[in-house]
Parts: sequence; C-alpha cells; structure tokens
Amino acid sequence: MVAAATQLLTQAGVPSPRHDAVAIAAHLLDLPTLSLVTAGPPPDDFGRRYAEAVDRRRRREPLQHIVGSTAFRYVTLTVEPGVFVPRPETEVLAGLAVDEVRALAAGGVEPLVVDLCCGAGPIGVSVAVETSATVVMVDRSAQAVDLAARNARACGHPQVTALIGDVRDRDLLAGHDGRVDVLAANPPYIPLDAEPVDPEVRDHDPDLALYGGGVDGLDLPRAVLQAAARLLRPGGLLLMEHAEVQAQAVRADAAATAAFVDIRTHPDLTGRPRLLVARRAPGTGSIA
Ligand SMILES: C[S@@+](CC[C@H](N)C(=O)[O-])C[C@H]1O[C@@H](n2cnc3c(N)ncnc32)[C@H](O)[C@@H]1O
Repeated sequence: MVAAATQLLTQAGVPSPRHDAVAIAAHLLDLPTLSLVTAGPPPDDFGRRYAEAVDRRRRREPLQHIVGSTAFRYVTLTVEPGVFVPRPETEVLAGLAVDEVRALAAGGVEPLVVDLCCGAGPIGVSVAVETSATVVMVDRSAQAVDLAARNARACGHPQVTALIGDVRDRDLLAGHDGRVDVLAANPPYIPLDAEPVDPEVRDHDPDLALYGGGVDGLDLPRAVLQAAARLLRPGGLLLMEHAEVQAQAVRADAAATAAFVDIRTHPDLTGRPRLLVARRAPGTGSIA
C-alpha cells in the first residue's frame, strides 16, 4: 500500500512522496514512526482510510494538515487549516534566539523574548521550552493566537503570553518599550504579485500569513523593524526571517532606521541568505 501511495504521490508532483506515504500510514496507525519491516497487520478499515488520506495529499493538501501536527526543533506542534504551517528553515531563527537567551541567562539576566507574527507559535514555544525566558507571542490572527496558546500549553508552558495584535500598531506592547532582550519575527514578506508556486502554500497557507504588503512585500517586515527599534533594550537582539532576494533590502531598511548596529544576514538550513540579525544600538532614542 505504501509503495502504491508513493507512486500516486510521485505522479502528483509531491516533492517527498515516499516520506509522506509513510508518514500518513504512521499517523493513521497512531504510531510515532512506521517501520514497514516490523509493523504488524493493519486494522481492517486501514485500506479505505489510507486511500482517502493519500488522495488528500495527491490533491496537494499539506501533509501537516492531514496528520495534524509538525515537528519543530524539540517540540511537536498542532497545525490546522487557517494558520501558517511552521517551516524547518525557521528552526535556525529559533536556535539563534535560544542561544542568545542562554548566554544572557548565564550572566544572571532573566530575558524577555517577544515573538511577533507568531502563527502557531514555533519560535516562542521553542524558546519557552528550551530556556527560562519570559515569552510574549503576538499575531494579528485570532485563530493563530489561540493555536499558539494551545501549543504552549501542550508543551508544558501555559504561562507563555499569546496576544492578538498588529505589528503596525505603534503602541503594540508599549509596556515593554526598551525592555525586550530578544525580538524574533517571521513576518509575511511575499510581494503581492509573486504568487507562490507550490499548491500547498498558495492554496492552504492563509494570505494574511504570506503577503507582506507593498510592491516589494516588505511593508510588514519594515513595521517589525520599527517595533523592534522601540521595544528592544540597547544591545537587544533582532532576528527576522525574509525571502532570499530581500537580504540586501532588509539590511538597508534596518540601517535606515539608525536604530541598529552589527547588521548582518544569516544563512538558513540550506545556506540561503534568509535571516536578518542586528543589535539595538546603544544610546539612540526611540524611533519615530
Ligand atoms: C509567515 S507566517 C509565520 C508564522 C510563524 N512565525 C512561523 O514561523 O510559523 C506570518 C504570520 O504573521 C501574521 N500577521 C500578518 N499580518 C500581521 C500583522 N499586521 N501583525 C501581526 N501579525 C501579522 C499572520 O497571521 C501569520 O501568522
């Protein structure tokens, strides 16, 4: 059955057909992973349920929507239609946030971390699970905030704050102005006229999560820069994901605020320039 499903998914252009065929079978059998060599005989209704689930994947529904979860660093997060599916690339950003928090904590600081545009909460929840930081997650989508809060609870961290908010709001989290140690964000950044090619993204990730606004897609990333300039303490770390082609523009936007130093681009898991790293400059006032 897995071999036949793999063939069907290959014909449908699914990028990792064998992996997905095995993952769907494991999910239906309620197994963490499936070893085809040692698996016992499947239940009677397995064939029908497997055919239905594989057909959903054949029609390019995301694997994560079919199995209802995704692995991200050390946690398994619930995933559902209407909220952006966390991507492996973002594990790098979360890892840099974790490293910074650990370094601060070793120096006796109790770090405050803000995850803007949190979606299902992969960054904020990972930081909460892997460190002792206080974490605040924000998203404009009420469904995303609800899911991020559920993921934090399910991972044993119900104290993580998840709030509905708009990164363009100049008073967002105003009580934390100048106090945040790490501000992490994976905002929407796709230009309006650049429709994603993959059906899983185009047809299933919400538009609110994809399109960054403006001709270059950078309106929301620029709003993140403004929020970071206001919220970060001097020396605080900004981490923001962006598209490969936006690396230079995002560095220039960060420099133009005059609020950041040590501005650089960090590679993602596949070596592509996908992540802005910068420090809040000491001594500059808040940004207009
Ligand atoms: C690319 S997704 C990333 C989600 C999550 N950080 C991740 O890495 O999986 C962008 C998120 O930004 C949120 N968003 C869109 N516009 C926003 C805004 N103006 N203010 C705050 N969040 C916004 C979307 O709802 C979506 O959850």
